[in-house]
Amino acid sequence: MLDLVVRGGEVVTPHGRILVDVGVHDGRIATLSVQDGRGEARREIDATGLLVLPGLVDPHVHLGHRVLLENEWVIAADDFSSGTRSAAVGGNTCVIDFALQRKLDPASTLAARKADCADKAIIDYSFHVVLTRSERATGDAIAAVVNAGVPSFKLYLIYRKQGRMADDGLLFNTLVEASRTGAIVGVHAENAAIAEYNTASLLEQGATSPVDFARSKPNHVEAEAINRVIFLAEHVGAAVYIFHLSTREGAELVARARARGVRVHAETCMHYLLLTESCYAGVDGHRYICSPPLRTARDVDALWRGIVDRTIGVVSSDHCGFSTAAKERGSSDFTRAPNGLPGVTLRLPLLFTHGVAAGRIRVEDLVALLSTNPARLFGLYPRKGAILPGSDADLVLVDPARRKTVRADDLDSRVDWSPYEGTELLGWPVLTIFRGEVVAQDGKCVTTLARGRFLERQPSPNTER
Ligand code: URP
Ligand code: ZN
Ligand code: ZN
Repeated sequence: MLDLVVRGGEVVTPHGRILVDVGVHDGRIATLSVQDGRGEARREIDATGLLVLPGLVDPHVHLGHRVLLENEWVIAADDFSSGTRSAAVGGNTCVIDFALQRKLDPASTLAARKADCADKAIIDYSFHVVLTRSERATGDAIAAVVNAGVPSFKLYLIYRKQGRMADDGLLFNTLVEASRTGAIVGVHAENAAIAEYNTASLLEQGATSPVDFARSKPNHVEAEAINRVIFLAEHVGAAVYIFHLSTREGAELVARARARGVRVHAETCMHYLLLTESCYAGVDGHRYICSPPLRTARDVDALWRGIVDRTIGVVSSDHCGFSTAAKERGSSDFTRAPNGLPGVTLRLPLLFTHGVAAGRIRVEDLVALLSTNPARLFGLYPRKGAILPGSDADLVLVDPARRKTVRADDLDSRVDWSPYEGTELLGWPVLTIFRGEVVAQDGKCVTTLARGRFLERQPSPNTER
């Protein structure tokens, strides 16, 4: 007998919508059957009038993120436990966070991060290993990390002072090793030297406001780094992933490279699709400091075009939520601001409202952007990102007609503010089912069980839908 059947809903995949019931056994999808009301199960969920999507995969979150600012560690509001709760509320059933190399070798870095996060997560998870040590041993260790189930890396091309930056030697050698092992190399693409030069000049002039933060990293800071990464990836034949693409120039570079067959993939985030640099001029402008910075309406338009023409295959949250108090540190000096915005709970209604309901994309595209493509690119498909027999029984039920106003207090998150506070959104997740069990309902996490597991991933062909 089935453990659960989700009846009467409209199942959505990147390839279409179909009225089928989803039967679950032992945490996996067991049956997809025409809706004739037959077939018994221990539990039934009535999804009439709802869309049934594969559980969302957020391939870019920072939980328990800490940054060294003025010799003090500043820690993001969400730890692994609270962050995965919020993620579940937002319809996610898997997140990919980071294992940041500090003093250890890459394999030990991964092992330590896994140990730190064990038995805390509400939903499944993995990590991208962030390489920072530019030495032969780092490149030599890449195969061991891939064999340990992590075929993806992140290199920060910025944040030199925080000890997170990868130089071009490390970038090049990581690409070489990635092409040998089948791994994909993600990059935070910003030119450190130009940004540091600009920052120093601005500080000399006493220009330290949030508006000046955006001036320190104009579009070419991102575009140059993307150009460099694409050049090297093309030369080596490696697959690369541009994290948080924010500029029209960057989108253009990615589009052109993809057209000539370079294995470059790009994500953007809802904040780059919805917010502009005008946020920095407000009284709470410092709260919007994130890297890369928010851009102009022209960039926003170009990113939406990139979504539509599939230059951009993924919309992640880059959830890095600092409290109002932590953000306050940067109110009069942007160099003291912890960078990052919260977003893991709102990807779905934001993209539904401004993408699907606004007529820019179809709900099938939303599924590809928020679930199937990240699962495919990072070696989780078809376990995640699919509604197929044998896939994990990870489903998010969405009410396409449900309107609600964003209130940070309603998001079951430790982050005490939202960039979207007071805006009305459509298409909220009403139920998140994770490996066959309901974990979140109507904006609340309804479990305390940490059933999430570290998922070992395989190198994948790195193709989108
Ligand atoms: O501003 C951001 N995005 N902070 C999080 C760390 C990163 O760069 O992804
Ligand atoms: Zn980044
Ligand atoms: Zn990030």
